[in-house]
This record gives sequence, C-alpha cells and structure tokens, in this order.
Amino acid sequence: MNVDALDLLATAVLLLNEQGQVDHVNAAAEDLFGRSRKQMCGQPASGLFDNPQELASSIERAARGAVADVRQSSTLRRGTDPIEVSVTTVSLSGQKWPVLIETREIEQRLLADRNHRLVEEIETHRQLLRNLAHEVKNPLGGLRGAAQLLEAELPNASLTEYTQVIISEADRLQALVDRLIGPQRVPLNARPVNIHEICERVCALIQAEFRSDVRLVRDYDASVPDVPGDAARLMQAVLNVARNAAQELVLLRRPGEESAGVVTFRTRVARQMMLAHRRHRLALVLSIIDNGPGVPEDIRDRLFHPLVTGRAGGTGLGLSLAQDFVQQHGGIIEFDSRPGHTEFRLVLPMETA
Ligand SMILES: Nc1ncnc2c1ncn2[C@@H]1O[C@H](COP(=O)(O)OP(=O)(O)OP(=O)(O)O)[C@@H](O)[C@H]1O
Ligand SMILES: [Mg+2]
Repeated sequence: MNVDALDLLATAVLLLNEQGQVDHVNAAAEDLFGRSRKQMCGQPASGLFDNPQELASSIERAARGAVADVRQSSTLRRGTDPIEVSVTTVSLSGQKWPVLIETREIEQRLLADRNHRLVEEIETHRQLLRNLAHEVKNPLGGLRGAAQLLEAELPNASLTEYTQVIISEADRLQALVDRLIGPQRVPLNARPVNIHEICERVCALIQAEFRSDVRLVRDYDASVPDVPGDAARLMQAVLNVARNAAQELVLLRRPGEESAGVVTFRTRVARQMMLAHRRHRLALVLSIIDNGPGVPEDIRDRLFHPLVTGRAGGTGLGLSLAQDFVQQHGGIIEFDSRPGHTEFRLVLPMETA
C-alpha cells in the first residue's frame, strides 16, 4: 500500500500495528483529530476516542482477523470540542498494517440537525392546522344540526336524500377535523413497555385487515429491554406505519397468485444515538420494512407533514401523528425508500448518556 495516496482521501484513516498503536495517519486524520502525525504515531489508537475500551476490543479482534470490519459511534475531542464520529475498524490481517481505522465526522450530527429542523417545521404546520380545524369545528356542528331540523320539516320524504348528504359530509369533515386537532398535549403516561407485545398486537390487526394480501415476518432481538413509553401512543404509531406498508402491498397482489408482499418487523438496540441534540447510550430501533414500490419521489421531503398523501383516499395524517407520538417520547421516525425496499425506523431513546 502506498501510504502517500491516503493523503488524497477526505476520510480520516489510521493504520495500526499489531499492538493497536498508530503507525501512520493520513492528512485528513490530522485535520479531524487536530493533531500532527508525530503526536499520534506510537500511541494506542483507542486512546484517541472517548470510549477507548470499546474500540480497543474491536481493534484487538480486527488484528486477530476475528472480524472483517466493525462500525461504531464514538466521540473524539478536538481541543475541548466533542465531535461525534462514526468509526470503522477494518481487519487487514496478513498485511503490513493489520488494522485500518476509518473515522468520519458526520451523519449523526447532520442527521440530528436535519431531525431538529424537521421537528420544528412539523410543529409549525401542525399548529396552523389545529387552529384552522378549531375554526371549522363550530360552524360544522351548526350546519349538521340545521340539516337535521330541516329534515324533520321536509314535506316530501324523497328530499331527505339531500339532507342526508349534508349530514354525512358534515360527519366526514368532523372526523377529519377531530384527527387534525388530534392528540392533546396530555403528558405521557410512561411506564415500561415491551415493544414486541406492541408489534404483536399490530401484527394481529394488520393480519385481520389485510389477510393473505401481506405476509408478516418477525425479526425480533429478544434481548431488547422494555422502553419507557406510553403503550397506547406507541401502538398507534407502529400501526400507522405498518398500515401504510400493507396498503402499498395490496396493490401488488395479482389475482389467483400467492401474495408477494412482505412486511418485516425488526427490533434492534442501537448504541450512542444522537436524538434531539442529546446523546443516548442506548436506543431502541424498530424497523418496519416492506418490499412495495417505495414512497413517491414528489412527497418524500414532506412525508411527515400533515395532509400529505400519495394515496387515493388517504388523508395524509397517519405519519404526521406517528411522528408526533414518537417525538413525544424523545424519539424520531426516519425512513429510506427505494423500489422493493422501504424502511421506516422508529427510534426510541432508552438511556441517556
Ligand atoms: N411504506 C410505504 N411505501 C410507500 N409509500 C408510503 C409508505 N408509507 C407511506 N407512504 C406514502 O406516504 C403517504 C403519507 O402517509 P400517511 O400515513 O401520512 O397518510 P395516508 O396513508 O395517505 O393517509 P392516512 O394514514 O391518514 O389514512 C402515503 O399516502 C403514501 O403515499
Ligand atoms: Mg397512512
């Protein structure tokens, strides 16, 4: 390996010897760590990060060739500033440098900023809509009442067809308005919640509604501990996300053939997550994955905003409510989507660092 070529990379790279000491650093690493090559060489690489034990163990395993690569989140200090980084430890066993460490200052921080903006944006929209909904609510009641009175006075029963239209449309609007005004900011009733129980209840509902149109797959990490949360709201959030997935899959179904639509519920524990500008030692990630066509391109940026829908007959409130419920828990819903693989991740904090 020509080590000078590493200087051309924008990613910080450290090459380690068998003992896990820094043997070479590239220019990007000098910038990222704010130290010179001389200062870093000969030192244990794990000591450059804030969680040296965890890294030392990955480095040791990589040096033995026991793992190909390990990706971890960590922080390092440039001066006194803590910097969130993602660290990939790569095993190069059998070569001159048995371990390579790649460090990027990134995603976490960018993601946290993006999430923060999203939260504020959604809150503004929601407030506006709530106010509007309140304004609509009162006249709507009057309208419906008047139609009922009118119906009672009608000389000809066949005319009730018209009053019935007024009444049923008023009811439909009422239901929409109620959903818009939505959950009042009542405090969370947080207690330990078993996420798998919630998933199971959602699975039962989805199966009942969609029957053989979708196949449900459970990929649970049984070691996931309970999360502090409000079971009713979490269940509603999971259900809204899962129903969307199932609704997309129904469209894939060909008559007479077995359904190819699959919704996977996957639970995992994530370490060192940044959520709402706070670092959490442990977080729960529930991924709901489907193999449908994917989220339409034109609504991706606004997906969590209320009234954004890509579905005929959709009201566009499901995800906005789900996001609200998860955010009330200090968490966030994120998504990635491409044709054949759409993944919504509900990230819920468990322990603050
Ligand atoms: N898993 C998914 N795959 C593809 N598109 C999705 C998926 N989940 C959501 N979407 C898109 O996002 C839109 C918004 O979803 P959201 O749940 O907020 O509203 P809705 O499903 O249209 O209506 P509502 O949930 O209020 O009945 C959907 O209309 C759909 O176009
Ligand atoms: Mg929906």
